Amino acid sequence: MKLTIIGSGYVGLTTGACFAEVGHEVLCVDNNQQKIDRLLRGEIPIYEPGLDELVKRNTEAGRLRFTTSTAEGVDFGEVVFIAVPTPPQPDGSVDLRFIEKVAREIAQVVTSYKVIVDKSTVPVNTGEKVADTIRRYAPEVTFDVVSNPEFLREGCAVDDLMKPDRIVIGANSEKAIALMRGVYAPFDAPVLVTDINSAELIKHAANSFLALKISYINAVSQICEISGADVEMVAAGIGMDRRIGRNFLNAGIGYGGSCFPKDIAAFIAISEQLGVPFHLLKEVQAVNRQMLQRFLKHIRDALWVLEDKRIAVWGLAFKNNTDDIRSSVAIELVETLVKEGAHVTVYDPKAMENARHLEVAERLIFANSPLEAVDEAEAVVIATEWPEFAAVDFAAVKARMRSPLVFDGRNLLDPARMAELGFMYRGIGRGVS
Ligand code: UGA
Repeated sequence: MKLTIIGSGYVGLTTGACFAEVGHEVLCVDNNQQKIDRLLRGEIPIYEPGLDELVKRNTEAGRLRFTTSTAEGVDFGEVVFIAVPTPPQPDGSVDLRFIEKVAREIAQVVTSYKVIVDKSTVPVNTGEKVADTIRRYAPEVTFDVVSNPEFLREGCAVDDLMKPDRIVIGANSEKAIALMRGVYAPFDAPVLVTDINSAELIKHAANSFLALKISYINAVSQICEISGADVEMVAAGIGMDRRIGRNFLNAGIGYGGSCFPKDIAAFIAISEQLGVPFHLLKEVQAVNRQMLQRFLKHIRDALWVLEDKRIAVWGLAFKNNTDDIRSSVAIELVETLVKEGAHVTVYDPKAMENARHLEVAERLIFANSPLEAVDEAEAVVIATEWPEFAAVDFAAVKARMRSPLVFDGRNLLDPARMAELGFMYRGIGRGVS
């Protein structure tokens, strides 16, 4: 099929590349000339495992193309996906001006029947507004609006797209549903067809539930810490119940990234606008904020004052396998340590370049390896769940440090082993070893 994706950011580019990979002809549109120029030169603006080969292969095969022209895009695709940013506003609600603008742009150039698909994460009822907008500016044209939310995770986006758990198609027209089934026919995944509003809600409800799972285990971790239990054992025990499942029960210093914090705030704002405030999600946010504060308190308790202390921080990205530092708890941690006068040395396998652009960067020392970061350090802090941190030679770490304190904000390490090696080890919800 001929497919157009408007917005070539994280979701748009990865989705476009995967559609091309399964044989569709894809035209990706973006109004950022620089971004399109880079893509045309074969440069991928984001780090996402497997994406560069996918883009290269499909560009060379002629199935994946790029343009800055919305008119060209709308003319090309039978199905036009909207994948533009939906950033948060100060009150947590979603800023929909990019969606509205694209709807108007589509209306100005559309001349034949199109399926307009909302891929961006949007509040419930947005599809109706997109349809109203197009109808207002192009009353003579027939079209259908569809909601088709995206469930990919950064760091494994290609895999999530190629092998999705489910495809959600929210549509009110048989013609649009048939075309959307065609788009997803090459993918081996169950398809759930719903009305547009339900599809929009599924996205916010899914992300909020996952964040709730994380805050749930984090709240349990606080009880474990005080009562002498180990949250890893508790998570294993409850996760073996198939109704609960072990995924997203990793206790830590909290969730971050460009999705969960924003989507939970948006869902709360929507619930308030609709007159049914979702108080439970406010608690999810509150627990998430507490985790970093509790963790910082443990660091302060151990070092007494942070001023002039040399602290190594491993991890800057909001999670492993990505260079993304947007709303990263690791960055918040680093900023707090610096504000309190600590000398902070940082290392991250992928996110160093992005971190160099932060305001705090001039007060950080950027190390070339985890080992280099701990030189003369009085404590090492693990802030991102990169598996390679667990494989570091900790005897060598200890030899380089001034005092052997390890604060593991992602429960990556084995407390007993760390104690054996002579470290004072503190994870999340598992006491001190
Ligand atoms: C999340 C969802 O998982 C995707 O399904 C969704 O499509 C995406 O948001 C989106 O809305 O676009 P993502 O933010 O890329 O994906 O990453 P996750 O793997 O969900 O991790 C989010 C945060 O939760 C990270 O900071 C991670 O460290 C934290 N986390 C995750 C935990 O603290 N514990 C866990 O058990 C799992």
